[in-house]
Parts: sequence; structure tokens; C-alpha cells
Amino acid sequence: MSNVLVTGGAGFVGYHLSKKILDNNFSTIILDNLDDYYDIELKLKRLSLLGIDTSEIKYGKEQKSKMYHNLGFVRGDICDKELVEDLFSKNNLDYVVHMAARSGARNSFSNPLEYIKNNVEGTTNILEIANRYNVKHFLFTSSSSVYGNMEENKDMSELKPISLYGATKLSAEIIAETYAKSKKLPITISRLFSVYGPLGRPDGFIYKCIESIKNEISIELFNNGEMWRDFIYVKDVSEILFRILLSIPERGFKVYDVGSGKATKITEVLQILEEILGKKSIVKNISGSKNESIITKAHNELIYQDVNLEKVSDLKANLTDFLQTQKVY
Ligand SMILES: NC(=O)c1ccc[n+]([C@@H]2O[C@H](COP(=O)([O-])OP(=O)(O)OC[C@H]3O[C@@H](n4cnc5c(N)ncnc54)[C@H](O)[C@@H]3O)[C@@H](O)[C@H]2O)c1
Repeated sequence: MSNVLVTGGAGFVGYHLSKKILDNNFSTIILDNLDDYYDIELKLKRLSLLGIDTSEIKYGKEQKSKMYHNLGFVRGDICDKELVEDLFSKNNLDYVVHMAARSGARNSFSNPLEYIKNNVEGTTNILEIANRYNVKHFLFTSSSSVYGNMEENKDMSELKPISLYGATKLSAEIIAETYAKSKKLPITISRLFSVYGPLGRPDGFIYKCIESIKNEISIELFNNGEMWRDFIYVKDVSEILFRILLSIPERGFKVYDVGSGKATKITEVLQILEEILGKKSIVKNISGSKNESIITKAHNELIYQDVNLEKVSDLKANLTDFLQTQKVY
């Protein structure tokens, strides 16, 4: 049985991907410091859905899941050299999925050192130790924020971030590529676009729309609603990332965009949500885009080509699915 380390596994995407990995019978360790970027209760809820007794959590101590015999959780910081080294020395890790990060572009300039510490220093620490322990494949989740403003036909190599978050993700990408090429650690970078779905991040656009429609509070639309995002369902993301994890790049390094390949106007998403929820939204138009791109759109041809993906699922159908059927919020 293969062993996988998932950093940031108590987070939104990390939780869904860990579940996918566990359901495929891989032995999994989640490392997450449960940071305060958003309500820790949501992270604890995700962990308890994976069978972790959250009342027993102690820094640096591994806890076994009561639901999955092959899952352990450690509350710990990716910057903590001793703890990470200990984790690698005790577990024969084959794969690393590195998702732990200080997320979010919008307010990243208000706390630059926090972003640099977690996203650059923390990533370097995990890379350095993973390289010494000869892991088979290191999957790093980067972000569409590395592109900055995306014009229609922008190439995958035109990287001009406009947020500090994007700049830290790009720095980490460059460091990862250097490890892949100089140290021969096989690495894949997956640039995620706007992920949505059950148990999503409270700062995500779709989450915020749902909350504001339900609670009848206004939703701020930046650039007066003239923004387009490439939205992708978290279940598609976990499927894609799981397939990427198992396909070790032939030349030791590969980069993918993980999105739907389609840019949807944010006002259209709001309309779909109003329809599903049967309620009107209260919109507050704001001029300017606050260090965020006006448009994002993934180049996802490589995914179709390499990981045998048919098509990503439909936005309206997914929103209906998780709002009406699952009711997990
Ligand atoms: N959700 C998206 O739409 C999206 C888009 C682009 C990129 N990404 C990237 O995907 C990854 C996962 O994103 P997410 O939406 O699940 O974010 P998230 O904030 O829900 O999850 C990140 C997790 O990392 C943990 N973490 C942060 N700093 C840590 C540290 N120093 N040590 C250990 N754990 C730490 C947090 O506690 C959190 O649980 C991140 O790297 C993010 O940058 C996400």
C-alpha cells in the first residue's frame, strides 16, 4: 500500500482530495496547522467527517481516524523542520500532495510576511525534506493567481501576478521547479482556478453569494460585476489531482492548469444561484478589482490529454446538486 502525505488536508480542497485518496485505499497522513485564515470550526468539521476526534487534537501528536484505518492526522506547521522531518522519518512516504498555504489574493498585501512564511518558506521546507527522503512524486497546488491579468490567449508561461498571494505562489513554483531539475525530485505543479463545492471556503465567491442570498445581506461585486472566473467543482478537482498524482511526469517536471476551460461572468453565477435558492440577491457594485484578475480561464487541454479526463461537470448542475441534494453547508 502506498503512503501519501497531504499538507493542508483540513482545508477545503485538501479534505476532498484526502477522501478520494483514502477511498482508493492509500494510506494517508494529513498535516495541517489549522490556521485562522477562516473559522477553524469548518476545518474541525471536515476532520470529524474523516473520523478524527477533534477534542483530542494536540500539536505534533498523530491521531488515528476512527473511520478510516489508513488515516492519521497531525496538527503541525509545514515550517516546523523538526516535526516535518519526524513525520518523514517515521512514515515511508511515497507521495506528497502539498496544499497547505495561506490562501486568498484579495487581502494578501495586508499581511505579506505571513504569506511569504507559509507559502514560500513552508513550501521550501517540505520540498527539502521530501527530496532527502526520495519521494516518488511531489504534487504542489499552485494557483491561477500566478498569471495576473489573463487576456484571452495568454500563454501558460506568461506569469505576471498582481497580488502578493500570486507572487508567493509563483516564488514557490520557481523553487519547486529548481528542486525538480537540480535535485531530480519528480514534481508536478497544478494551478487551480476557482474551486467551489460542499464545505467550501467562506471567502470563495460562490460561498459568499449563497450566504448573502440566504441571509438577505448584500454581496459586493468588484469591477461592477464585470469579472469572469473559471469555476471548477471540487469533485472534478479531486479526481483530476488524484489522477495527476499517480502519473509521475516523464521528464520529472510538469505544470497543469486545473480549471473548466470556460470563463463565466460572476453575475451569471449569481443568477443561477438566485434561481436555485428561489430568492433575489442584494448587489453592491464596487469599482476596481482589488488585486484580482478581471478574467481567469484555464488552459486545460493538457489535462484532457494526459490524465484521460472526459469533461468537467456543468456549473448549474453542480450547484443544484450540492445545494438541493446534499445540503452540506
Ligand atoms: N480553493 C481554491 O479556489 C483555490 C484556487 C487556487 C489555488 N488554491 C490552492 O489550493 C490549496 C488548497 O486551497 P484551499 O481552498 O483548500 O485552502 P484552505 O485555506 O481551505 O486550505 C489550506 C489549509 O492549509 C493549512 N495551512 C496553512 N498554513 C499552514 C502551515 N503553515 N502549516 C500547515 N498547514 C497550513 C490551513 O489550516 C488550511 O486548512 C492552497 O495551496 C491554495 O493556495 C485553491
